[in-house]
Amino acid sequence: MLDYVVSISGINTDSEVLEIGSGTGVLGKQLGTQVKSYIGIDISPEMVRIANEKQSPDTFYLHGDAVDLGHFTPCQFDAVFARMILHHLTHGLSKCLQECYKVLKQGGRLIVCENFPLAAEAEEFQKKCLDIKEERITFKPDTLRESIESAGFTVASTKEIVLTIRLSNWIDNNNLDKQRAERIKQMFVGMSDKVKQGLRCRKVGDDWLFETKFLILSAKKK
Ligand SMILES: C[S@@+](CC[C@H](N)C(=O)[O-])C[C@H]1O[C@@H](n2cnc3c(N)ncnc32)[C@H](O)[C@@H]1O
Repeated sequence: MLDYVVSISGINTDSEVLEIGSGTGVLGKQLGTQVKSYIGIDISPEMVRIANEKQSPDTFYLHGDAVDLGHFTPCQFDAVFARMILHHLTHGLSKCLQECYKVLKQGGRLIVCENFPLAAEAEEFQKKCLDIKEERITFKPDTLRESIESAGFTVASTKEIVLTIRLSNWIDNNNLDKQRAERIKQMFVGMSDKVKQGLRCRKVGDDWLFETKFLILSAKKK
């Protein structure tokens, strides 16, 4: 998926790139060597610390809020990456998208990645699980697209990628505390056949595998 995200961004060795919600630096690690400059910002000082631990001369991580990109210059970047961050912006999604628009050069790309339930039967179940994890925006592909277009962007392409997730890995990767992890596991134990089919979910030992859909969207500043 990372390769695809990078391939549609139009970046090259002259590109200046910003990632909002850069987390532990997974995308930065891949992008850093391919561009002229890469800056990642994240609201969590802990994430910035971890990302900076693996810092190479090609990447630069800062503490910052994606809802206020005022410390960057208008039209500074060739591409802005927003991988799995927009759902966090319960208080500022449209401001963030406007800020991304502002800091991009004309013709620059915003690359967004968010995940969605595989099938309608799994929507309510997936929303309940994610609501246990955190306060978040529940997008549908259309509402995500509308938010991006409302900030002035033109959507250039969208692609869906289906990935299989192991529940225990998902719980670990998201640092869920024991109580929340247990609540989510209990939801899997009690899931109906209809939801099971909607998630293409199967039990493997004490664990579950399920499928989820990622939407990768490329939008262009006019
Ligand atoms: C699911 S992680 C994704 C990390 C990274 N983009 C990746 O794909 O590996 C979401 C990240 O967004 C960050 N985040 C949430 N709200 C933010 C905000 N308002 N400004 C900047 N970062 C934010 C979180 O701290 C977290 O590191």
